[in-house]
Amino acid sequence: MDKQHIINQTRDFVKNASYGEGSGHDWWHIERVYKLAKFLAEQEGANLFIVEMASLLHDMDDWKFRDLDKTSTIIEDFLCSIGVDEESRTHITMIVETMSFKGGVEDSSQSTIEGMIVQDADRLDAIGAIGIARTFAYGGHKNQPLYNPYIEPYLFHSLEQVKKADNHTINHFYEKLLKLKDLMNTKTAKEIAVRRHQFMQQFLVEFYGEWDFTS
Ligand code: NI
Repeated sequence: MDKQHIINQTRDFVKNASYGEGSGHDWWHIERVYKLAKFLAEQEGANLFIVEMASLLHDMDDWKFRDLDKTSTIIEDFLCSIGVDEESRTHITMIVETMSFKGGVEDSSQSTIEGMIVQDADRLDAIGAIGIARTFAYGGHKNQPLYNPYIEPYLFHSLEQVKKADNHTINHFYEKLLKLKDLMNTKTAKEIAVRRHQFMQQFLVEFYGEWDFTS
């Protein structure tokens, strides 16, 4: 198995599939997660090949955009076609299928260090300055208002509620983003998360200050 060749082919495959994605899950998100995951893998001593492959493929299964069962088959077929061995295929698809947050309702906990790392990298890209930018881009994609002081943050109890919720973007910070720092699996990711978390808190202070402007 020529690992570098396989990784290059996977990059091309994902790049083609994610072209034109306008909701914050575009190719640049994948690229950032890939780089972060690689760094975490080196620091934490994980299997680099599995981490690279799973981070490249991690959003192909995103429940918000695509049909999970169909995508799993597409990924499995693709991995087969480029000559990835069965053990690696099973590990990679397991990570991709189980890692997303899904409103915090379904269990997304990872059983391997490689899965923990890809999940951490994806969560790190959801917070900090990039996280703020992505959150408002996603809110716009969903036609959500920036903020409505009369709608309080809501804790979801089922996936259906997550999908139907009529919400504003600031609430997303309380429902998800501010929780992510404490959900990091690895020590390295926890350290990176601290600064990004503080930046979001600072952003919210500024936001409310401007919203309630008094001279
Ligand atoms: Ni992602």
